[in-house]
Amino acid sequence: MSQTESFFESPEARKLAVEIAKRLDANNSLALINEYRKQGIDPEMITFALNQASYKQRGMVKFGERAIDMLFTESGLEQATRQEVASWHASRFKEAGIASVTDLGAGIGSDAIGFAKAGLEVTAVENHPESFQALKHNLATIANATALEQDATNHQISSAGVWLDPARRDQDRKSLTVQRLEPSMFSPNLDFVFEIANQYPAGIKLAPGFPHELIPNNFEANWVSHHGDLVEMTLWSGSLGQPGIKKAVMVGEAVNEFVGTDQLAAISQVERYLYEPDVSLIRSHLVGDYANQNGLHLISEQIAYLSSAKLVSSPWLKGYEVQDVLPLDIKQIKAYCSKHDIGVLEIKKRGVDVTPEALRPKLKLKGAGAATLVLTKVGSARQAIVCKSIR
Ligand SMILES: C[S@@+](CC[C@H](N)C(=O)[O-])C[C@H]1O[C@@H](n2cnc3c(N)ncnc32)[C@H](O)[C@@H]1O
Repeated sequence: MSQTESFFESPEARKLAVEIAKRLDANNSLALINEYRKQGIDPEMITFALNQASYKQRGMVKFGERAIDMLFTESGLEQATRQEVASWHASRFKEAGIASVTDLGAGIGSDAIGFAKAGLEVTAVENHPESFQALKHNLATIANATALEQDATNHQISSAGVWLDPARRDQDRKSLTVQRLEPSMFSPNLDFVFEIANQYPAGIKLAPGFPHELIPNNFEANWVSHHGDLVEMTLWSGSLGQPGIKKAVMVGEAVNEFVGTDQLAAISQVERYLYEPDVSLIRSHLVGDYANQNGLHLISEQIAYLSSAKLVSSPWLKGYEVQDVLPLDIKQIKAYCSKHDIGVLEIKKRGVDVTPEALRPKLKLKGAGAATLVLTKVGSARQAIVCKSIR
Protein backbone atom coordinates (compact mmCIF):
# COMPACT_ATOMS: atom_id res chain seq x y z
CA MET A 1 0.00 0.00 0.00
CA SER A 2 1.41 3.43 -0.97
CA GLN A 3 1.73 6.16 1.66
CA THR A 4 -1.18 8.11 0.11
CA GLU A 5 -3.38 5.01 0.20
CA SER A 6 -2.52 4.51 3.87
CA PHE A 7 -3.64 8.09 4.66
CA PHE A 8 -7.13 7.18 3.41
CA GLU A 9 -7.25 4.66 6.28
CA SER A 10 -5.61 6.88 8.90
CA PRO A 11 -8.08 8.44 11.41
CA GLU A 12 -5.57 11.30 12.05
CA ALA A 13 -5.25 12.15 8.34
CA ARG A 14 -9.02 12.01 7.86
CA LYS A 15 -9.64 14.19 10.93
CA LEU A 16 -7.08 16.73 9.70
CA ALA A 17 -8.75 16.81 6.27
CA VAL A 18 -12.12 17.64 7.85
CA GLU A 19 -10.54 20.30 10.06
CA ILE A 20 -8.77 21.94 7.09
CA ALA A 21 -11.95 21.76 4.95
CA LYS A 22 -13.68 23.95 7.54
CA ARG A 23 -10.84 26.52 7.56
CA LEU A 24 -9.51 26.57 3.98
CA ASP A 25 -10.17 29.63 1.81
CA ALA A 26 -8.67 30.98 -1.40
CA ASN A 27 -5.75 32.68 0.36
CA ASN A 28 -4.74 30.71 3.44
CA SER A 29 -3.32 27.36 2.23
CA LEU A 30 0.34 28.35 2.81
CA ALA A 31 -0.43 29.71 6.27
CA LEU A 32 -2.25 26.45 7.14
CA ILE A 33 0.68 24.34 5.89
CA ASN A 34 3.11 26.34 8.06
CA GLU A 35 0.84 26.14 11.08
CA TYR A 36 0.49 22.35 10.90
CA ARG A 37 4.22 21.88 10.16
CA LYS A 38 5.05 23.84 13.31
CA GLN A 39 2.86 21.37 15.21
CA GLY A 40 5.17 18.61 13.91
CA ILE A 41 2.61 16.97 11.60
CA ASP A 42 4.07 14.85 8.77
CA PRO A 43 4.28 17.13 5.65
CA GLU A 44 2.97 14.28 3.45
CA MET A 45 -0.07 13.98 5.69
CA ILE A 46 -0.64 17.73 5.52
CA THR A 47 -0.52 17.56 1.70
CA PHE A 48 -3.02 14.68 1.69
CA ALA A 49 -5.35 16.50 4.08
CA LEU A 50 -5.11 19.76 2.17
CA ASN A 51 -5.97 18.03 -1.11
CA GLN A 52 -8.88 16.20 0.51
CA ALA A 53 -10.07 19.46 2.10
CA SER A 54 -10.18 21.11 -1.30
CA TYR A 55 -12.05 18.12 -2.81
CA LYS A 56 -14.53 18.19 0.08
CA GLN A 57 -15.26 21.87 -0.58
CA ARG A 58 -15.65 21.26 -4.33
CA GLY A 59 -17.65 18.10 -3.60
CA MET A 60 -20.36 20.18 -1.85
CA VAL A 61 -21.73 21.07 -5.31
CA LYS A 62 -22.38 17.42 -6.09
CA PHE A 63 -22.94 15.98 -2.60
CA GLY A 64 -24.02 18.84 -0.34
CA GLU A 65 -22.97 18.64 3.34
CA ARG A 66 -22.27 14.89 2.99
CA ALA A 67 -19.04 15.83 1.13
CA ILE A 68 -17.38 16.87 4.41
CA ASP A 69 -17.33 13.24 5.56
CA MET A 70 -16.37 11.79 2.16
CA LEU A 71 -12.95 11.07 0.64
CA PHE A 72 -12.11 11.67 -3.01
CA THR A 73 -9.54 11.43 -5.76
CA GLU A 74 -9.21 14.30 -8.25
CA SER A 75 -10.57 12.28 -11.20
CA GLY A 76 -13.06 10.44 -8.97
CA LEU A 77 -14.66 13.76 -7.96
CA GLU A 78 -14.69 15.03 -11.55
CA GLN A 79 -16.33 11.86 -12.88
CA ALA A 80 -18.76 11.41 -10.00
CA THR A 81 -22.43 11.47 -11.02
CA ARG A 82 -24.44 14.36 -9.52
CA GLN A 83 -26.62 13.06 -6.69
CA GLU A 84 -30.01 13.91 -8.24
CA VAL A 85 -28.93 12.10 -11.41
CA ALA A 86 -27.67 9.13 -9.37
CA SER A 87 -31.12 9.00 -7.68
CA TRP A 88 -32.73 8.91 -11.11
CA HIS A 89 -30.47 5.97 -12.11
CA ALA A 90 -31.56 4.17 -8.94
CA SER A 91 -35.24 4.88 -9.63
CA ARG A 92 -34.96 3.12 -12.98
CA PHE A 93 -33.72 -0.07 -11.28
CA LYS A 94 -36.48 0.19 -8.65
CA GLU A 95 -39.18 0.71 -11.29
CA ALA A 96 -37.93 -2.36 -13.17
CA GLY A 97 -38.29 -4.40 -9.95
CA ILE A 98 -34.52 -4.97 -9.67
CA ALA A 99 -33.43 -5.17 -6.02
CA SER A 100 -29.66 -5.68 -6.33
CA VAL A 101 -27.04 -4.04 -8.51
CA THR A 102 -23.32 -4.46 -9.20
CA ASP A 103 -21.53 -1.21 -10.01
CA LEU A 104 -18.59 -2.26 -12.22
CA GLY A 105 -16.08 0.61 -11.95
CA ALA A 106 -17.67 2.50 -9.06
CA GLY A 107 -15.11 5.33 -8.70
CA ILE A 108 -15.51 7.16 -5.40
CA GLY A 109 -19.07 5.82 -5.22
CA SER A 110 -21.56 8.49 -6.21
CA ASP A 111 -23.83 6.15 -8.18
CA ALA A 112 -23.32 3.40 -5.59
CA ILE A 113 -24.50 5.79 -2.83
CA GLY A 114 -27.54 6.71 -4.96
CA PHE A 115 -28.44 3.03 -5.42
CA ALA A 116 -27.96 2.26 -1.73
CA LYS A 117 -30.05 5.26 -0.62
CA ALA A 118 -32.88 3.97 -2.80
CA GLY A 119 -32.74 0.65 -0.94
CA LEU A 120 -30.93 -1.46 -3.54
CA GLU A 121 -28.37 -4.04 -2.40
CA VAL A 122 -25.12 -2.72 -3.91
CA THR A 123 -21.80 -4.38 -4.77
CA ALA A 124 -19.34 -1.69 -5.84
CA VAL A 125 -16.23 -2.89 -7.71
CA GLU A 126 -13.22 -0.62 -8.26
CA ASN A 127 -9.63 -1.46 -9.25
CA HIS A 128 -7.81 1.87 -8.88
CA PRO A 129 -6.13 1.67 -5.44
CA GLU A 130 -6.80 5.25 -4.27
CA SER A 131 -10.31 5.40 -5.74
CA PHE A 132 -11.01 2.12 -3.98
CA GLN A 133 -9.84 3.57 -0.65
CA ALA A 134 -12.18 6.53 -1.14
CA LEU A 135 -15.02 4.22 -2.21
CA LYS A 136 -14.54 1.95 0.82
CA HIS A 137 -14.63 4.96 3.14
CA ASN A 138 -17.66 6.52 1.44
CA LEU A 139 -19.67 3.29 1.66
CA ALA A 140 -18.45 2.27 5.14
CA THR A 141 -21.53 3.48 7.01
CA ILE A 142 -24.04 2.16 4.47
CA ALA A 143 -25.30 -1.27 5.48
CA ASN A 144 -26.61 -2.32 2.06
CA ALA A 145 -23.42 -1.49 0.11
CA THR A 146 -20.15 -3.43 -0.17
CA ALA A 147 -16.93 -2.19 -1.77
CA LEU A 148 -14.61 -4.70 -3.52
CA GLU A 149 -11.11 -3.94 -4.82
CA GLN A 150 -11.10 -5.99 -8.00
CA ASP A 151 -10.85 -5.77 -11.77
CA ALA A 152 -14.41 -5.52 -13.08
CA THR A 153 -13.62 -7.98 -15.88
CA ASN A 154 -12.80 -10.69 -13.27
CA HIS A 155 -15.81 -10.07 -11.06
CA GLN A 156 -18.41 -12.83 -10.80
CA ILE A 157 -21.74 -10.98 -10.96
CA SER A 158 -24.35 -12.22 -8.49
CA SER A 159 -26.82 -9.31 -8.56
CA ALA A 160 -30.00 -8.98 -10.65
CA GLY A 161 -28.82 -5.80 -12.44
CA VAL A 162 -25.56 -4.09 -13.41
CA TRP A 163 -24.43 -0.46 -13.57
CA LEU A 164 -21.49 0.53 -15.81
CA ASP A 165 -19.94 3.99 -15.94
CA PRO A 166 -16.70 3.38 -17.84
CA ALA A 167 -13.91 5.95 -17.50
CA ARG A 168 -12.79 7.67 -20.69
CA ARG A 169 -9.04 7.04 -21.04
CA ASP A 170 -8.64 10.28 -23.03
CA GLN A 171 -10.56 12.65 -20.73
CA ASP A 172 -9.13 15.76 -22.35
CA ARG A 173 -10.81 15.01 -25.67
CA LYS A 174 -14.26 16.57 -25.52
CA SER A 175 -15.96 15.20 -28.62
CA LEU A 176 -16.06 11.79 -30.20
CA THR A 177 -16.25 11.07 -33.89
CA VAL A 178 -17.01 7.77 -35.52
CA GLN A 179 -13.43 7.46 -36.82
CA ARG A 180 -11.82 8.11 -33.47
CA LEU A 181 -13.98 5.92 -31.27
CA GLU A 182 -12.29 2.69 -30.14
CA PRO A 183 -13.69 0.36 -27.45
CA SER A 184 -10.27 0.52 -25.77
CA MET A 185 -10.73 4.26 -25.17
CA PHE A 186 -13.00 3.22 -22.30
CA SER A 187 -12.12 1.47 -19.07
CA PRO A 188 -13.61 -1.07 -18.62
CA ASN A 189 -13.37 -1.61 -22.38
CA LEU A 190 -16.60 -0.79 -24.26
CA ASP A 191 -16.83 -4.28 -25.80
CA PHE A 192 -16.87 -5.74 -22.27
CA VAL A 193 -19.46 -3.14 -21.19
CA PHE A 194 -21.83 -3.98 -24.07
CA GLU A 195 -21.30 -7.73 -23.57
CA ILE A 196 -22.33 -7.46 -19.89
CA ALA A 197 -25.35 -5.32 -20.84
CA ASN A 198 -26.43 -8.04 -23.25
CA GLN A 199 -26.33 -10.61 -20.45
CA TYR A 200 -27.91 -8.61 -17.57
CA PRO A 201 -30.43 -5.79 -17.26
CA ALA A 202 -27.94 -2.90 -17.20
CA GLY A 203 -27.55 0.85 -17.22
CA ILE A 204 -24.52 2.36 -18.99
CA LYS A 205 -23.43 5.97 -18.51
CA LEU A 206 -21.57 7.46 -21.49
CA ALA A 207 -20.63 10.97 -22.61
CA PRO A 208 -23.57 12.88 -24.16
CA GLY A 209 -21.49 13.34 -27.33
CA PHE A 210 -21.37 9.58 -27.95
CA PRO A 211 -22.26 9.11 -31.67
CA HIS A 212 -25.91 8.14 -32.24
CA GLU A 213 -24.89 5.72 -35.00
CA LEU A 214 -22.81 3.63 -32.57
CA ILE A 215 -25.66 2.99 -30.12
CA PRO A 216 -26.58 -0.73 -30.24
CA ASN A 217 -30.21 -0.96 -31.41
CA ASN A 218 -31.27 -3.35 -28.65
CA PHE A 219 -30.71 -0.63 -25.98
CA GLU A 220 -32.85 2.34 -24.94
CA ALA A 221 -30.91 5.62 -25.20
CA ASN A 222 -31.51 8.66 -22.95
CA TRP A 223 -29.84 12.08 -23.23
CA VAL A 224 -29.88 13.62 -19.79
CA SER A 225 -29.78 17.24 -18.63
CA HIS A 226 -29.55 18.48 -15.06
CA HIS A 227 -30.46 22.12 -14.37
CA GLY A 228 -29.66 23.09 -17.96
CA ASP A 229 -26.36 21.15 -18.24
CA LEU A 230 -26.13 18.19 -20.61
CA VAL A 231 -24.60 15.59 -18.29
CA GLU A 232 -24.69 12.16 -19.91
CA MET A 233 -26.09 9.69 -22.39
CA THR A 234 -27.49 6.66 -20.60
CA LEU A 235 -28.20 3.31 -22.23
CA TRP A 236 -30.58 0.79 -20.69
CA SER A 237 -30.72 -2.91 -21.57
CA GLY A 238 -33.01 -5.85 -20.80
CA SER A 239 -35.95 -5.10 -18.51
CA LEU A 240 -34.49 -1.63 -17.74
CA GLY A 241 -35.24 -0.21 -21.20
CA GLN A 242 -37.21 -0.47 -24.40
CA PRO A 243 -35.02 -1.44 -27.38
CA GLY A 244 -34.48 1.30 -29.95
CA ILE A 245 -36.28 4.01 -27.92
CA LYS A 246 -34.76 7.50 -27.76
CA LYS A 247 -35.62 9.84 -24.91
CA ALA A 248 -34.65 13.26 -23.68
CA VAL A 249 -34.64 13.29 -19.88
CA MET A 250 -34.55 16.37 -17.66
CA VAL A 251 -33.52 15.49 -14.14
CA GLY A 252 -34.11 17.91 -11.28
CA GLU A 253 -36.41 17.77 -8.29
CA ALA A 254 -38.84 16.18 -10.76
CA VAL A 255 -37.95 14.05 -13.78
CA ASN A 256 -39.40 14.89 -17.23
CA GLU A 257 -39.08 12.52 -20.16
CA PHE A 258 -39.79 13.01 -23.85
CA VAL A 259 -39.79 10.13 -26.38
CA GLY A 260 -39.36 10.70 -30.10
CA THR A 261 -38.23 9.32 -33.43
CA ASP A 262 -35.92 11.90 -35.08
CA GLN A 263 -38.78 13.69 -36.93
CA LEU A 264 -38.18 16.79 -39.02
CA ALA A 265 -40.09 19.97 -38.17
CA ALA A 266 -41.50 22.64 -40.48
CA ILE A 267 -39.37 25.76 -41.02
CA SER A 268 -41.11 29.12 -41.05
CA GLN A 269 -40.84 32.79 -40.02
CA VAL A 270 -40.27 34.12 -36.53
CA GLU A 271 -43.63 34.65 -34.84
CA ARG A 272 -44.56 36.27 -31.55
CA TYR A 273 -42.71 33.77 -29.34
CA LEU A 274 -39.21 32.33 -29.67
CA TYR A 275 -37.98 29.31 -27.69
CA GLU A 276 -34.71 27.64 -26.76
CA PRO A 277 -35.30 23.91 -26.28
CA ASP A 278 -33.58 22.08 -23.40
CA VAL A 279 -30.11 20.71 -24.30
CA SER A 280 -31.33 17.14 -23.81
CA LEU A 281 -33.90 17.63 -26.60
CA ILE A 282 -31.23 19.11 -28.86
CA ARG A 283 -28.62 16.39 -28.32
CA SER A 284 -31.18 13.56 -28.59
CA HIS A 285 -32.21 15.00 -32.00
CA LEU A 286 -35.80 15.20 -30.75
CA VAL A 287 -36.40 18.93 -31.28
CA GLY A 288 -38.41 18.17 -34.45
CA ASP A 289 -40.66 15.68 -32.64
CA TYR A 290 -41.19 18.13 -29.79
CA ALA A 291 -42.01 20.96 -32.20
CA ASN A 292 -44.52 18.84 -34.15
CA GLN A 293 -46.32 17.72 -30.98
CA ASN A 294 -46.57 21.23 -29.54
CA GLY A 295 -47.53 23.44 -32.50
CA LEU A 296 -44.03 24.94 -32.88
CA HIS A 297 -41.76 25.35 -35.89
CA LEU A 298 -38.06 25.85 -36.57
CA ILE A 299 -36.93 29.20 -37.97
CA SER A 300 -33.96 27.75 -39.86
CA GLU A 301 -32.67 24.33 -40.83
CA GLN A 302 -30.21 22.77 -38.34
CA ILE A 303 -30.63 25.58 -35.77
CA ALA A 304 -32.36 24.74 -32.50
CA TYR A 305 -34.63 27.76 -32.05
CA LEU A 306 -38.40 27.26 -32.20
CA SER A 307 -41.21 29.75 -32.68
CA SER A 308 -45.00 30.00 -32.42
CA ALA A 309 -47.81 32.57 -32.52
CA LYS A 310 -49.37 31.22 -29.30
CA LEU A 311 -47.50 31.02 -26.01
CA VAL A 312 -46.37 27.51 -25.06
CA SER A 313 -45.26 27.11 -21.44
CA SER A 314 -43.20 24.02 -20.80
CA PRO A 315 -40.22 22.93 -18.70
CA TRP A 316 -38.59 21.89 -22.01
CA LEU A 317 -38.55 25.46 -23.34
CA LYS A 318 -36.99 28.76 -22.36
CA GLY A 319 -39.39 31.28 -23.87
CA TYR A 320 -38.95 34.83 -25.22
CA GLU A 321 -41.49 37.34 -26.51
CA VAL A 322 -40.24 38.80 -29.79
CA GLN A 323 -40.14 42.61 -30.02
CA ASP A 324 -38.45 43.11 -33.38
CA VAL A 325 -36.43 41.27 -36.00
CA LEU A 326 -33.46 43.18 -37.46
CA PRO A 327 -30.82 42.25 -40.02
CA LEU A 328 -27.61 41.12 -38.27
CA ASP A 329 -25.94 44.46 -38.98
CA ILE A 330 -23.95 46.20 -36.25
CA LYS A 331 -24.97 49.75 -37.25
CA GLN A 332 -28.66 48.87 -37.27
CA ILE A 333 -28.46 47.01 -33.95
CA LYS A 334 -26.58 49.93 -32.38
CA ALA A 335 -29.13 52.46 -33.63
CA TYR A 336 -31.99 50.26 -32.38
CA CYS A 337 -30.50 49.93 -28.87
CA SER A 338 -29.86 53.67 -28.69
CA LYS A 339 -33.40 54.54 -29.85
CA HIS A 340 -34.96 52.13 -27.34
CA ASP A 341 -32.71 53.17 -24.45
CA ILE A 342 -31.33 49.62 -24.03
CA GLY A 343 -28.42 49.60 -21.58
CA VAL A 344 -28.60 45.96 -20.43
CA LEU A 345 -28.45 43.47 -23.26
CA GLU A 346 -28.24 39.67 -22.99
CA ILE A 347 -26.73 38.44 -26.26
CA LYS A 348 -27.26 34.85 -27.46
CA LYS A 349 -26.14 33.28 -30.68
CA ARG A 350 -26.68 30.08 -32.60
CA GLY A 351 -25.66 29.24 -36.16
CA VAL A 352 -23.79 32.49 -36.94
CA ASP A 353 -20.12 33.33 -36.40
CA VAL A 354 -20.52 36.69 -34.61
CA THR A 355 -19.57 36.38 -30.95
CA PRO A 356 -21.35 38.33 -28.17
CA GLU A 357 -17.90 39.34 -26.80
CA ALA A 358 -16.95 40.97 -30.11
CA LEU A 359 -20.35 42.61 -30.68
CA ARG A 360 -21.04 44.07 -27.22
CA PRO A 361 -18.34 46.81 -27.10
CA LYS A 362 -19.31 47.99 -30.57
CA LEU A 363 -22.88 48.72 -29.45
CA LYS A 364 -21.82 51.29 -26.82
CA LEU A 365 -24.88 50.43 -24.75
CA LYS A 366 -26.38 52.94 -22.34
CA GLY A 367 -29.86 53.45 -20.99
CA ALA A 368 -32.30 52.06 -18.47
CA GLY A 369 -33.93 49.44 -20.70
CA ALA A 370 -33.10 45.73 -20.92
CA ALA A 371 -33.54 43.17 -23.70
CA THR A 372 -32.28 39.88 -25.09
CA LEU A 373 -30.72 39.82 -28.55
CA VAL A 374 -30.65 36.49 -30.40
CA LEU A 375 -28.16 36.36 -33.26
CA THR A 376 -29.16 33.56 -35.62
CA LYS A 377 -30.49 32.65 -39.04
CA VAL A 378 -34.11 32.97 -40.10
CA GLY A 379 -34.29 30.79 -43.20
CA SER A 380 -30.87 31.53 -44.67
CA ALA A 381 -30.78 35.24 -43.62
CA ARG A 382 -28.60 36.33 -40.70
CA GLN A 383 -30.87 38.15 -38.25
CA ALA A 384 -30.82 39.76 -34.83
CA ILE A 385 -34.04 39.04 -32.93
CA VAL A 386 -34.81 41.49 -30.14
CA CYS A 387 -36.88 39.84 -27.43
CA LYS A 388 -37.84 39.77 -23.76
CA SER A 389 -37.38 36.72 -21.63
CA ILE A 390 -40.64 35.19 -20.32
CA ARG A 391 -40.10 34.47 -16.62
C1 LIG B 1 -16.39 7.18 -14.51
S1 LIG B 1 -15.73 6.44 -13.06
C2 LIG B 1 -17.18 5.97 -12.18
C3 LIG B 1 -17.84 7.09 -11.46
C4 LIG B 1 -18.98 6.63 -10.59
N1 LIG B 1 -20.10 6.17 -11.37
C5 LIG B 1 -19.47 7.76 -9.67
O1 LIG B 1 -20.54 8.29 -9.93
O2 LIG B 1 -18.74 8.10 -8.72
C6 LIG B 1 -15.13 4.94 -13.69
C7 LIG B 1 -14.33 4.13 -12.69
O3 LIG B 1 -14.09 2.84 -13.23
C8 LIG B 1 -12.84 2.39 -12.74
N2 LIG B 1 -12.39 1.30 -13.60
C9 LIG B 1 -11.94 1.38 -14.87
N3 LIG B 1 -11.62 0.19 -15.35
C10 LIG B 1 -11.89 -0.70 -14.35
C11 LIG B 1 -11.78 -2.09 -14.23
N4 LIG B 1 -11.34 -2.85 -15.24
N5 LIG B 1 -12.14 -2.68 -13.07
C12 LIG B 1 -12.61 -1.92 -12.03
N6 LIG B 1 -12.72 -0.60 -12.09
C13 LIG B 1 -12.37 0.01 -13.23
C14 LIG B 1 -11.98 3.62 -12.79
O4 LIG B 1 -10.85 3.50 -11.93
C15 LIG B 1 -12.96 4.72 -12.37
O5 LIG B 1 -12.85 4.96 -11.00
